[in-house]
Amino acid sequence: MNTTTHDEPAFLRALSGEVLATPPIWMMRQAGRYLPEYRELRAKAGSFLGLCYNPEWAAEVTLQPIRRFGFDAAILFSDILVVPQALGQKLWFVEGEGPRLEPVADAARLAEIDAQAGIGVLDPVIETVRRVKASLPRETAFIGFCGAPWTVATYMVAGRGTPDQGPAKALFAQDPALFQQIIDRIVATSIDYLCAQLDAGVDAVQIFDSWAGSLGREDFERWCIAPTKRIVDGVRARHPQARIIGFPRGAGTFIPDYVRGTGVDAVGLESEIDRAFARDEIQSLVPVQGNLDPLILRAGGPELEREIAAVREAFGAGPYVFNLGHGILPDTPIAHVERLLAAVRS
Ligand code: CP3
Repeated sequence: MNTTTHDEPAFLRALSGEVLATPPIWMMRQAGRYLPEYRELRAKAGSFLGLCYNPEWAAEVTLQPIRRFGFDAAILFSDILVVPQALGQKLWFVEGEGPRLEPVADAARLAEIDAQAGIGVLDPVIETVRRVKASLPRETAFIGFCGAPWTVATYMVAGRGTPDQGPAKALFAQDPALFQQIIDRIVATSIDYLCAQLDAGVDAVQIFDSWAGSLGREDFERWCIAPTKRIVDGVRARHPQARIIGFPRGAGTFIPDYVRGTGVDAVGLESEIDRAFARDEIQSLVPVQGNLDPLILRAGGPELEREIAAVREAFGAGPYVFNLGHGILPDTPIAHVERLLAAVRS
């Protein structure tokens, strides 16, 4: 049953299953380095984490793409790796490279970080949510997020991003009980963190599983679907109306089972997915979001026009949120984003 009202932002109506003539649109990583106003505040903050943990600046950065482009949804400015920090792990970012953590690869290290754990480090992020909520236009929805347990665990175990998630895979193969303990900690803290975001004013939450595509069938059930379902159930126990978007990037033909197994309300689609499959086997279950290739947005030109049309053609007859298949690239021209918005809204 569709219980939405027309006062609701278009993004939330689409998530509730409404088919809209003009799809709502936002972009993953819409607050970021392709925007000069972001780069300016980022320079002032000195570091990425300094920006994330300053509620005034993080709120400003969250709002920048809304002011400039009028997207249908804002996404909280933070990072998925603040959860390992709440779990007691040290986190820092190496300029031009990416995140670093002190790896957790044995029981002794897990006990050490447990002693440092405390969700209080995330209080400034929750303050950011309150500030953004207070200044967001009524028609703009507000999205909170966390990383999925599998993806967060890949960084916790390796201490950095990895091309093949090798260290995490080695750990779950050699010591599945220890890997399960890491997953359990991420699940528990992610539930509290998402509930705190919902209490403070986000309308929906997205669970980013960027490395879901690297798991085979059985591992996907165990390390992606099962822990994600626990987060969905845990959040719904406290927030029965919460709208939850799953993004198991690269999971392709496993996505229908992910949707059924986790109970998410909507699902993000990577750029590489077969669109006919996604329409017939996924959008028939839940609203979908995606899947324009960020490389094509960066390239622009006639290929961009063709792809925007192809995405709308594939998903326009069902409930759908326009987005990219992954985050916008830092060297994307702003004119291409303007063109995308004009094309989607024409
Ligand atoms: O989408 C948004 O605008 C909201 C903010 C957001 C960021 N990261 C900001 C960010 C969100 C939702 C994320 C999610 C995230 N972070 C994921 C999952 C989605 C994905 O991209 O696959 C992952 C794997 C991370 C971890 C992470 N954070 C990495 C690997 C990096 C380094 C690579 C890079 O893009 O620089 C980051 C840094 C990061 N997170 C930046 C931003 C804006 C760039 C930091 C800077 O300004 O220097």
